[in-house]
Amino acid sequence: LSASFRLDPAFTIAPVSRRTFGSFVEHMGRAVYTGIYEPSHPTADADGFRQDVLALTRELGVSIVRYPGGNFVSGYRWEDGVGPVADRPVRRDLAWHSLETNEVGIDEFMRWAEKANVEVMYALNFGTRGVQEALDVHEYLNHPSGTRLSDQRRSNGSDKPYGIRMFCLGNEMDGPWQIGHKTAVEYGRLAVETARALRAAEPGLELVACGSSHSSMPTFAAWEAQVLELAYDSVDYISAHAYYQPIDGDLESFLASAVDMDHFVNSVVATADSVGARLKSKKKLQISFDEWNVWYLKEFQAAPPTSEWPIAPRIIEDQYNVADAVVVGSLLISLLRHSDRVTAACQAQLVNVIAPIRSEPGGPAWRQTIFHPFALTSRLARGEVLRVEMRAPLYATARFGDVPTLDAVATHDDATGDVTVFVVNRSLTDSADLTVAVAGFGRAFRIAESWTLSDDDLTAANTEQNPDRVVPRTNGTAWVEDGELHASLPPVSWTAIRLS
Ligand code: AHR
Repeated sequence: LSASFRLDPAFTIAPVSRRTFGSFVEHMGRAVYTGIYEPSHPTADADGFRQDVLALTRELGVSIVRYPGGNFVSGYRWEDGVGPVADRPVRRDLAWHSLETNEVGIDEFMRWAEKANVEVMYALNFGTRGVQEALDVHEYLNHPSGTRLSDQRRSNGSDKPYGIRMFCLGNEMDGPWQIGHKTAVEYGRLAVETARALRAAEPGLELVACGSSHSSMPTFAAWEAQVLELAYDSVDYISAHAYYQPIDGDLESFLASAVDMDHFVNSVVATADSVGARLKSKKKLQISFDEWNVWYLKEFQAAPPTSEWPIAPRIIEDQYNVADAVVVGSLLISLLRHSDRVTAACQAQLVNVIAPIRSEPGGPAWRQTIFHPFALTSRLARGEVLRVEMRAPLYATARFGDVPTLDAVATHDDATGDVTVFVVNRSLTDSADLTVAVAGFGRAFRIAESWTLSDDDLTAANTEQNPDRVVPRTNGTAWVEDGELHASLPPVSWTAIRLS
């Protein structure tokens, strides 16, 4: 099978937003305890953080991390997690039916974020709380000094304010599973009231209203429209969440998950813009795609409910395979393609819980298959995102109809002149001969690096015993000649090629 497209430096979509490469740490399962934090671990630093996990986080190229939830945040009291650890209460976490020891709270997490060199996106509790808690936690985090809560932060060891820019106004408030679930009108009103109060405290914050928990919610689009009718002027972002998995072994559809993500983004943009038009607003909302990933959700939902209240249990520690990694790579292609509107995104989550990084208590940490496309895309996507009009044969899927067998996006870094192509071959059976016309750049290129992730065994995975079973390998078939890049892409593969 053959496919082609043409690149031109003038065909720009938007600059690559570094916040596209966000992640998520929720107080859930073993994300925090024995994930990022394990004081008794051989690699633990003086603050109890696992340095092996920190090193992998940096290697992953994460830019921003959403914290502390997720569903957890809708029952969370942030003040439980500050001050002397010995005085902190143990609480029930109703979202995940476990106990929260509060050994890690805001101050510890901010210390970890500094070490990981990531920005923090802070999610507020809109489930059991609202305006007052938002103001209080903001005062603790961002107010310089001279008030009760800012001075409390200073006496807890953080003299300088943390300067958090992005705040999520709750989490998945459209979902009946959410503690404090609300109707769109109830939520929209609370979002406006809180946003106004926060802006009175600090103008210039970037505020994210909850969009739909996924695009198949019965209230999808109606929720966004109603919330934004109320909150359009008060917020900067509307959130989107999406998780994908193969349903009944249907790999053809699973590999085309990015078609659904494209449709999701386009639908939210259309809905937000139609509200903007009705309000006669010149403002354009951005999308914070602050939860996305492959998640074997149906298996999790099928598990019987527990009556136990464990601490840091093993919850949704999905093991990812080759096909999952190809899908993650293709979802990143979709996110980059929408860089004009999707300017923040968080892969959910970072470590152990549906995560690119796995760690064992007292044991090693390793890269899951999905780590690799994320790390390479974060490292290589630089400069401007370029438009791609792919010419490729279609194939039939049960869930999304006929879809292109190949999908791609590219970036062009004016500073270095580098052009990078990210491309996925979704065919289960055929290699693809790809031709990319690059003559429009008016210069000669050479292949600086070319990586392909694929395997004859689509179920191959990285494990504690064999952590590097699946890694990207140099694609030796790539060459450039007469203004054309050529490469052969194996079936079910994800590839990144940098030209310099
Ligand atoms: O990421 C796991 C969970 O998925 C989050 O807590 C919730 O927001 C979503 O439903």
